[in-house]
Amino acid sequence: MKRQSIRFYDAHPGIAGLRDEVLAGFTCQPRMLPPKFFYDAQGSLLFDRICEQPEYYQTRTEMAILDSALPDLVRRIGAECLLVELGSGASRKVRLLLEGLHPGGYMGVDISREFLLESTELLASDYPWLEVHAACVDFSHRLDIPPVDIDRHKVAFYPGSSIGNFDREDAQRLLHDVGRLVGPGGHLLIGVDLKKDVDTLNSAYNDAAGVTAEFNLNLLRRIRRELDSDIDPETFDHYAFYNPLLGRIEMHLLSRCRQRVLIEGQAFEFERGEGIHTENSYKYTVPEFAGLAAGVGFVQEAVWRDPDDLFSVQLLRYEPDPG
Ligand code: AVJ
Repeated sequence: MKRQSIRFYDAHPGIAGLRDEVLAGFTCQPRMLPPKFFYDAQGSLLFDRICEQPEYYQTRTEMAILDSALPDLVRRIGAECLLVELGSGASRKVRLLLEGLHPGGYMGVDISREFLLESTELLASDYPWLEVHAACVDFSHRLDIPPVDIDRHKVAFYPGSSIGNFDREDAQRLLHDVGRLVGPGGHLLIGVDLKKDVDTLNSAYNDAAGVTAEFNLNLLRRIRRELDSDIDPETFDHYAFYNPLLGRIEMHLLSRCRQRVLIEGQAFEFERGEGIHTENSYKYTVPEFAGLAAGVGFVQEAVWRDPDDLFSVQLLRYEPDPG
């Protein structure tokens, strides 16, 4: 069995995390649910399908950028690093890096335990020369991995523009934690979705096949599956739009009728049209993101984009102020 060869660190939040955060989120005004709960087994599959939709330009664009940036990247980073992938999920993009960069070690970090184990096991058997680690953690509050005491140049890889889920303050806190993980001189290779015309953005989160709507509604299906609740996904609509004032996509689930739902014995009233805010996805200009990263000691070393300026892949180097 290949599993023994993977060093596995498990800090999965489990059911109490879901229950407490759903109850807390439903008590807020406006109601909200954290996007990390999208990614149960079914949600992760739905997300993979989103990535294949023609309107969702992010995934294929990032892949193409990574592919063409590879020679430059290898020159800047060199071989035999420790590559730490955040939110590794199905880990497809990382294969490109493993083959091009030839790191000495790989660590997958993800909240979805099944996906993490499956994907790291596959990597371990496909790349026998690679030392594989896996850490099941929820890094939405803080990135808490036991100190990686490996004497290699550390490179964090955070693809997919998932940094967009965080507001400015939380994004900086996460980058700060990443800085501590990679250490001074270490790198962060990050995918950052760019500001662009609102039609392109709105279509990307309202695909014609309805996969994004299913992904959003799966949050309610998950609550029904895992908690004691009568919430009916059929009585909610997917609503996603770009908010240009805040520079972010917002996703909501809006109640189609006046209703009362029960969750773990607590009752929640919804007016018709009243909703649950389920996700933000912030978009940046390249200078905006440079400013955010500089605030926590990261220097923009290289930025690669596609010819249409839809998406960027950025190499940041951690150079914290001494003292
Ligand atoms: C995984 C957070 C980058 O914001 O585009 C896709 C999630 N939500 N469609 C994004 C998502 C709806 C995605 N991230």
